[in-house]
Amino acid sequence: MKSQKIVITGGAGGIGMACAENFKDEELIITDYSQEIVDSAVKKLTNKGFRATGFACDITDKNAVNKLVKFVADSGSLKALIHTAGVSGTVQDLKKVYTIDLVGTEILIDAFFELAVENTVAVLFSSMMAHTVPTNEKYDTALQNPQAAGSFETVSQFVNNSSDTMYNFAKRGVILLSHKNVDRWGAKGARIVTISPGVIETEMALKAAKEHPERMQMIKEATPLKRNGTPKDVVDAVKFLASDAARFITGTDLLVDGGVILNINKMK
Ligand SMILES: NC(=O)c1ccc[n+]([C@@H]2O[C@H](COP(=O)([O-])OP(=O)(O)OC[C@H]3O[C@@H](n4cnc5c(N)ncnc54)[C@H](O)[C@@H]3O)[C@@H](O)[C@H]2O)c1
Repeated sequence: MKSQKIVITGGAGGIGMACAENFKDEELIITDYSQEIVDSAVKKLTNKGFRATGFACDITDKNAVNKLVKFVADSGSLKALIHTAGVSGTVQDLKKVYTIDLVGTEILIDAFFELAVENTVAVLFSSMMAHTVPTNEKYDTALQNPQAAGSFETVSQFVNNSSDTMYNFAKRGVILLSHKNVDRWGAKGARIVTISPGVIETEMALKAAKEHPERMQMIKEATPLKRNGTPKDVVDAVKFLASDAARFITGTDLLVDGGVILNINKMK
């Protein structure tokens, strides 16, 4: 039997690395934006006894993603794609947020579909902020077709020129893309799910906390569990979703947010 691989995008990032460290007995392929950060992540893992190889890939570049898929196919079969790569609204660039968080996700779903076999699972990172964006036929159609001409412009009309709001919309799009693909993946016996973390204390969240300290304080106070999340809180949920214990779960979004989104949506 071909060796089964778990591919982690954003594998050098806060949550991606924490996911990798929670898959002790698996064969890992770590991918991230640059060769330098991939090499350093792989070194960190192999030094701790993990079985990991690396492949640098910009997820918005179709050719690079196709090369990554070929690398995975040459190495073994696909057990799971854990897609954590992304940027937050702090990049202050609507197009960048839309392209990396949403278009990149669709490029990965389409390319990795070729590798999906029975029991393969894709776990895609959305965000609790996706749950602040209501249903709307016009922008939902655009979010489900992020590479179609005019989609970015359509979504942009609704985000008030705010890259933070674009992030919320793009992450709603990630959930809608999982719904769009659930039958296609299901026909192969493969699953596609999303996970929506709340505030998780990684570099991404600490950067956002510096920019909006009051907002972050408000979120903590509104969280029923009265604390922010840790990478460990999320990676245990990812491990469950990627495991055989979740074999009948597909097209589902799992909120891992300490319950805060219920209270945020009440404040609106
Ligand atoms: N940290 C949080 O509070 C939080 C909350 C909700 C959702 N999320 C989501 O979880 C995921 C991981 O977040 P994190 O906190 O680990 O962030 P992070 O910034 O630590 O890691 C993100 C990784 O994605 C990589 N990346 C960015 N653009 C890329 C591209 N074009 N191609 C390939 N790789 C690219 C970065 O190099 C980085 O290593 C993200 O999708 C984020 O939106 C995070």
